[in-house]
Amino acid sequence: MRKHKSAEQIVRQYGGDILRSGGMQQEKTFMQHGRVSVYGHSLMVAVLCVKIARALAIRVNTRSLVRGALLHDYFLYDWHVPDKSHRLHAFYHAGRAAHNAQRDFGLNDIERNMIRSHMFPLGRVLPRYRESLILCAADKLRAAGETAAGLRDRLGGGLAGLFCRGKDKKKGRGNKP
Ligand SMILES: [Fe+2]
Ligand SMILES: [Fe+2]
Repeated sequence: MRKHKSAEQIVRQYGGDILRSGGMQQEKTFMQHGRVSVYGHSLMVAVLCVKIARALAIRVNTRSLVRGALLHDYFLYDWHVPDKSHRLHAFYHAGRAAHNAQRDFGLNDIERNMIRSHMFPLGRVLPRYRESLILCAADKLRAAGETAAGLRDRLGGGLAGLFCRGKDKKKGRGNKP
């Protein structure tokens, strides 16, 4: 893996066509965790995958690592909207993402396994490649961070509001709307 390029440059080099595609642009309208869209989540997971591979000096197929990571949540619906077609989202979206990605971009064995196993230990597909294990870790780290940030926003807003009202009262601005 070339070290003079940033992880994001590597992702754009190998996944630029995916990022510009209609399907990925559509992902900008679907929220994933907290206030992060599926597009933003997938991009950051791919960047983190490259960083992990570099930091641990793991030999990988960089192109597949990037493309599998970008497409791992390519299920193309809003999972927050209740709908019969995507019940048990946590268990079935990996298969749906792999199906859509195969149709729109074509997948090699590494990329297919990365996508189908990324929810491991949920689901029945085991990670069989180093790239799949890296994606499993990166996805869970990003998901935890994004969910925590979303909660912090919600709780922090309430606490900050209380704190500011207290400060404003001291300055005589407590009754301003
Ligand atoms: Fe996922
Ligand atoms: Fe994900």
